[in-house]
Amino acid sequence: MFDGVSLDESGFKSVISTFPTGITVVTTVRDGDPVGLTVSSFTSVSLNPPLVLFCIDRDSDSLSSFQIGSEVVINVLASDQSDIAHKFANNRMERFTQGILRESNDAGSELPIIDGVAATVAGAVVNEYEGGDHSIFLVRVKEVWRCDKEPLLYARSRIHVRPWSRWLEGE
Ligand SMILES: Cc1cc2nc3c(=O)[nH]c(=O)nc-3n(C[C@H](O)[C@H](O)[C@H](O)COP(=O)(O)O)c2cc1C
Repeated sequence: MFDGVSLDESGFKSVISTFPTGITVVTTVRDGDPVGLTVSSFTSVSLNPPLVLFCIDRDSDSLSSFQIGSEVVINVLASDQSDIAHKFANNRMERFTQGILRESNDAGSELPIIDGVAATVAGAVVNEYEGGDHSIFLVRVKEVWRCDKEPLLYARSRIHVRPWSRWLEGE
């Protein structure tokens, strides 16, 4: 049985949040300083060439650090990293205090990579599109890494710390 939901902000959110996603922390460097925020609006776009996208709120303080040409890292958080998801959604001063690796890339940037993630996707922003109150960043992927860890899940506006394999087993 379907219930009609009004298309105001909270009704729209309540419907969109039924679609589960992972949680990432998207990082870059600006003027030598690391920048990063928690992002669930990450998705793959194209296999050939390898393209992904993420969206950032136009009110976000980090927005101006992401531009066409920016080197970025999408850190896919693991199921034991909910503290990092909260940290990068809150106080900016505490975001890069620990658990950060620095990786030099071809462009000479020392990109911040979060230690202990499930996967890492690195590349450069090739386009930015207006998407209402968010900006959509299209990224050409250059390097990917994967760890044998389960991802952190986000659904119904909640972070789910229980490993997803246990959901599949119906526990
Ligand atoms: C689970 C989760 C997912 C989020 N996804 C996004 C997102 O996709 N895009 C976005 O702009 N903000 C998202 N946020 C909110 C930002 O992380 C948060 O507003 C952060 O404080 C922005 O930092 P800034 O203002 O320093 O840029 C999310 C927060 C959480 C907890």
